[in-house]
Amino acid sequence: MVTVSAPGKVYLFGEHAVVYGEPAVPCAISRRATVTVRERDDNSLIVNAKDLSLEGFTVEYSGGINAQPDIDVSEHLVEAAMAYIETAISQVREHTNRPNAGVEVTIESNLPLGAGLGSSAAVVVSTIKGGITELGGTISDEKLAQRAYQVEHIVQDGRASRADTFCSTMGGAVRVEGDDCNQLDAPTLPFIVGYDGGSGDTRELVSMVQSLKDEYSFAAETISTIGDIVRTGESLIQTGQMNELGDLMNFNHGLLSALGVSSRTLDSMVWAAREAGADGAKLTGAGGSGCIVALDDSDQTLTALSYNPECEQAFRAELDTDGVVIES
Ligand code: MEV
Repeated sequence: MVTVSAPGKVYLFGEHAVVYGEPAVPCAISRRATVTVRERDDNSLIVNAKDLSLEGFTVEYSGGINAQPDIDVSEHLVEAAMAYIETAISQVREHTNRPNAGVEVTIESNLPLGAGLGSSAAVVVSTIKGGITELGGTISDEKLAQRAYQVEHIVQDGRASRADTFCSTMGGAVRVEGDDCNQLDAPTLPFIVGYDGGSGDTRELVSMVQSLKDEYSFAAETISTIGDIVRTGESLIQTGQMNELGDLMNFNHGLLSALGVSSRTLDSMVWAAREAGADGAKLTGAGGSGCIVALDDSDQTLTALSYNPECEQAFRAELDTDGVVIES
């Protein structure tokens, strides 16, 4: 039996645009998915998932990938989560050359599903690393990030970037532009996360942005402008110029909103953070619903978000410099 954990992330800049080759800067945060993998005697895949939200609901999911879980979360989320896990196990079987290997996968996470904190990447990275290790194999972090990216690429219908999976594998702040992935030497930024209790469907939101981009040249220009924001912003990270970074986050949020991936609840939390004095605030991840990230080293944004009726939970998120880790 092997237990592996990997961090979630927030996007300082660049989600969605990164799918089309623009740069992005996701940052790993100190909330993790933990996956335990145990080899089975037969060739089946059993998945037990619990605590896949900040509230900690329980998913008892066993009896194979086609079984119907008895849980209180929307079906599309569970289907998406199971598609990521099943595809991750295919990568394990391929890597270890054990096409019929049976495994039991148990997931614990305090990253809400589909809420922009990289829960699927953290689960996929941990599952692949845990599965390969349990079956007696080894994998470098670079190859692990590559295999985890393949999973997102397949599940998201061929539209995925390397950003979430590279960040979750390596930890810290990273810069991703197409196939070019690098770790950044970033100071700890004072991230505050606000969570509206909802979720978005990454596959659907990415597909919607693709349609807009195909239809309107100004949507394509919006995407390349997000790339310009990232190129400007990355030079400010090392020097920790919070006011300027915050202004660029605000700009980035406006452009994501123009692409239709924000929502009333996300906008409300973004404005609550800005009015409380945050240096900047934006949605993080695919959008639709879920989380925003703000920069504030005082307690004011945290307090304002915790009183905002649209915000179910607010917390400070430290940069996590550890990527994937074998726990035991
Ligand atoms: C989702 O966390 C981030 C997106 O940019 C999709 C991706 O990069 O694969 C929306």
